[in-house]
Amino acid sequence: MTLKNLENQFNGKVKLDGNNLIKELGIKLIFLFPIYVIHQFLIEVKFIFTRYILVYVLPKKIRDIIISLRNNGYYKIERYYPNSTIEYIEKVLKDHIKTKKNDRIEIDGTIKYNNLNNIKPLKIFADQSLFILTNIFYTLCYSQPSLKFLITKKILDNNQLFLASHAHFDSYKNEIKVMVPTSNITKDNAPSILHSKSGHYYLKYFRQYFVSWLQVHNFIKENKENNIPLAFLKENKYTNKLLLNRGDIIIFDSRFIHAASPIKSGERKVIWFYF
Ligand SMILES: [Fe+2]
Repeated sequence: MTLKNLENQFNGKVKLDGNNLIKELGIKLIFLFPIYVIHQFLIEVKFIFTRYILVYVLPKKIRDIIISLRNNGYYKIERYYPNSTIEYIEKVLKDHIKTKKNDRIEIDGTIKYNNLNNIKPLKIFADQSLFILTNIFYTLCYSQPSLKFLITKKILDNNQLFLASHAHFDSYKNEIKVMVPTSNITKDNAPSILHSKSGHYYLKYFRQYFVSWLQVHNFIKENKENNIPLAFLKENKYTNKLLLNRGDIIIFDSRFIHAASPIKSGERKVIWFYF
């Protein structure tokens, strides 16, 4: 089996062979589906309201971010954090990682540290009013970001499993994630690939949105759907490789279809703020 085939079938160690909803939910499926349809409809109304009405009464900075998120899926700010801040945060993370061995997922050269919210310097670093306000006006919800740190290294194994290397959206609803790399991200160390015109609802992928809704609301444990072909993200005028330098940030809407590209060399280190 080639590496390409493997990427299409796994998300880390989760085999993407589709959920069996009848087996997982039984009779509940009959009640849950109409609730989902109504909820999804309201999400789409919210999408239209924020993009075409609300955005015009917002301060210019937030308006520019929201319009770029809606139109392109992301908004990049170069040199947002000075080098001294990134160095300090790296030191905080290093100390934390040394002492705490919990709350981490490790797969074939990828380590994901979750639940970093109680590290005070990190929390201050993430609690930027720009992010909080953008999220409020974009999603019409208030939330504090949840902090994660992801390190991906190339290991000498052609069958290396990667997290999120299949073409996917993270959720049935528009959500903001802020990507803060602490290493440069070049074309060789796994840049994310994003389709800039894919934030709307695709009826043909309704099953994948529905499964995401079920997972977000804890009706099922894992989303094993993989209905979007990787070819969706093949090079064309709408696909963007998110290349960044240390200190740059990208605010992105993770309902746009995206994938992590496999790492060719070196390592990739990213702090994520999940709203
Ligand atoms: Fe993702």
